[in-house]
Order: sequence, then structure tokens, then C-alpha cells
Amino acid sequence: MKVPVQLSHASRLLNHGPTIIVSTMHEGRRNLMAAAWSMPVEFTPPRIAVVIDKSTYTREQIARTKTLALNIPCRALADLTFTVGSVSGRDDPMPAEDKFTRYGIASFPGPALGLPLVEGCIGWMECRVIEEPHTEQAYDTFFVEAVSALSDTRVFANGRWDLNEHNRPLHTLHHLGAGLFAVAAETVQGRVIDAPN
Ligand SMILES: Cc1cc2nc3c(=O)[nH]c(=O)nc-3n(C[C@H](O)[C@H](O)[C@H](O)COP(=O)(O)O)c2cc1C
Repeated sequence: MKVPVQLSHASRLLNHGPTIIVSTMHEGRRNLMAAAWSMPVEFTPPRIAVVIDKSTYTREQIARTKTLALNIPCRALADLTFTVGSVSGRDDPMPAEDKFTRYGIASFPGPALGLPLVEGCIGWMECRVIEEPHTEQAYDTFFVEAVSALSDTRVFANGRWDLNEHNRPLHTLHHLGAGLFAVAAETVQGRVIDAPN
């Protein structure tokens, strides 16, 4: 069910603005945080902007490794997403506990960088940070480039999302605030209007 996504299609995983889970790992210590603020900024190479606040432990991890993974959770992972966005990994005693162990979150290693990817998500990207110290400092915005991408073929295959009534538990989450999410439940095909002569 998990298949590689062509890197030229990877940005499409985030085209519709789903909430993501950022995962990191430094010297074996793993972490997770939710991020509602991310967007693609380039198809080829696949580049993404993501806001990561200075207060987060994730930010410390990224400063050390210059890598991170973007996991795309689905409706079934709403509680998990809200939870990892509500507590900090900084408080976990090493090595006994991290958010993965504390909340029983299963993971698998990413194919390119070995970063921990969250099982049950529907899309995954491993990324390297494109260093832009000014935007990081001034706007907490990181530009990253995907070096691997995977999708769950039940909802994303051949570079396209297929969100329909038969795969509702796998629809993406869109954060409205305070743990309330809208779900991408319906699609509509836009067509170019014929202009009257
Ligand atoms: C749904 C949701 C979306 C969030 N979006 C962002 C975001 O885009 N950027 C950010 O810096 N923090 C965001 N947060 C807050 C972080 O996820 C939160 O501070 C987290 O506890 C940081 O974890 P860490 O300290 O272990 O890295 C969000 C939280 C939630 C619940």
C-alpha cells in the first residue's frame, strides 16, 4: 500500500494544505510535532516551506541535523495529531521515553535518510533543510527539499489524490484551531469557462 511517489509529484501531496506531522531524529532521539502551516513552493525540485516555532524541541533537532520528515495524517489520526502538537518532546527523559513510545506510535524508517515515519499516515516525505538563516530567524519559516516521498495508494497514486466516499477515514486533516479539524471530504472538478465572444 505504501509506494514511492515520483519526486516531481511530491509537492502535490501538500497542494491542498493538509495538517502535517513533522518527525525528526538526532543521535537516536526521535520527536514529533504537528504543523498546520506548510505549503509547496516548487514542483521540481520538490520544495516546501514549513513554519517551525523557536519554542519547539523539533526546532532544536532540526538545527542539529538539517533534516526532517513530513508525515500526512488522516482523519483516523486526529487525536494523535492534536496530541503531538500539544506536548513537547523536550520534557521526555532520554532514552526511556519519547512521543512515539509514550503514545504507542508505530514508525518505520524512511528510505533515504532513515528518519522515523509515522505508520497510519497516508503520505510521507523525507527532507533536507535549505539553509535560509534570515527566514528561519525572522519568520520561523524553513525551506526544505524532499529527497524521498511515499504515499498510501488508497488515496494518492500516480501523482493524484483520490478522495472519495469509500476512503473517508483516510481523508486529510485541515486544522481550524484548538484541535478542531475540517476533513477533505469532497472534491469538485473545476473547468475553464468558455468566454463569450
Ligand atoms: C494542529 C496543530 C497544528 C500546529 N501547527 C504548528 C505550526 O504550523 N508551526 C508550529 O511551530 N507549531 C505548530 N503547532 C504547535 C506544535 O506542534 C507544538 O508546539 C508542539 O508541542 C511542539 O512539539 P516539540 O516541542 O516536541 O517539537 C501546532 C499544533 C497543533 C495541535
